[in-house]
Amino acid sequence: MSQAHRVIILNEFILQRQTEYPDASGELSALLHHLGLAAKIVNRAVNKAGLIDILGSVGASNASGEDVKKLDMFAHDHFLNTLTTCGQCCGVASEESDDIIILEDDLSRNAKYVICIDPLDGSSNIDVNVSVGTIFAIYRRLSPVNGPCNQEDFLQTGRNLVAAGYIIYGSSTVLVYSTGNGVNAFTLDPSIGEFCLSHPNMRIPENGIYYSLNESYKNYFPYAINEFVEYCKADDKATKRPYSSRYVGSMVADLHRNLIKGGIFLYPPMKTHPRGKLRMLFECNPMAFIVEQAGGIANRWRKCHIRPQT
Ligand code: AHG
Ligand code: MN
Ligand code: MN
Repeated sequence: MSQAHRVIILNEFILQRQTEYPDASGELSALLHHLGLAAKIVNRAVNKAGLIDILGSVGASNASGEDVKKLDMFAHDHFLNTLTTCGQCCGVASEESDDIIILEDDLSRNAKYVICIDPLDGSSNIDVNVSVGTIFAIYRRLSPVNGPCNQEDFLQTGRNLVAAGYIIYGSSTVLVYSTGNGVNAFTLDPSIGEFCLSHPNMRIPENGIYYSLNESYKNYFPYAINEFVEYCKADDKATKRPYSSRYVGSMVADLHRNLIKGGIFLYPPMKTHPRGKLRMLFECNPMAFIVEQAGGIANRWRKCHIRPQT
């Protein structure tokens, strides 16, 4: 008799996990479910980009000074629309919005979570069919329920994260998330329209062979970074060096590879970006949470001597 493969879909998995917490109200589960739903809508647009008028820029910059693409705004609008109407979060901070978005309807103002989102990560790759992603971070609000949330609810340390995850729109679309109890990944099966458990309990391999950074900025990096890059390139059989260079330019894709294959990803500080370019709220905190939950290490460069730009 054939052994049919048992498929576990995202919502079933979320509910299974919820039963492990007898006090859980189901709000976080519902929020995760809605993020999965918005991801499917964005995925549909990413897949059709080129056929519908969604490529190119809108002709404006966001708060980080980055050129805003049409797909950035599309993803922002759809995630926001879902989060505004689902009633499980009281506020949203988005990379594509200058201000926090406070949700004031009766349902949302009673919700206990806020969410930080990078709706479309890797914007520079949109027009050329290279993987892009969405990153989300969920915090428990500090402000009292049944009132408006405020900035402090969003400006929490990454150590307070309740859940975080990302969706990679790549050769297949994969949703990866953690609620602080390991990392699981779900691949979208387009034929049934469901995210199906494909990578249970992800663990980053100990001995990765990839290093990943934008080496074109080499002349602006702190000396220690360049020394490390030279170490990666040096020949040494015992440590399997030289390591291979991989850099997609979408943090989600670069870290997804590292999660599966191991390795290091870094965005060093430079004079133009003294703290590096990545945004703590939308990119670093959630991705660091995932990396640590998968057994990896995430570090912030605290002290460095930045080279003067020539
Ligand atoms: P976003 O598209 O959300 O603005 O993020 C892009 C980020 C990150 O995903 C990527 O690793 C990095 O910017 C790429 O920067 P460089 O082009 O400077 O390498
Ligand atoms: Mn980004
Ligand atoms: Mn973005």
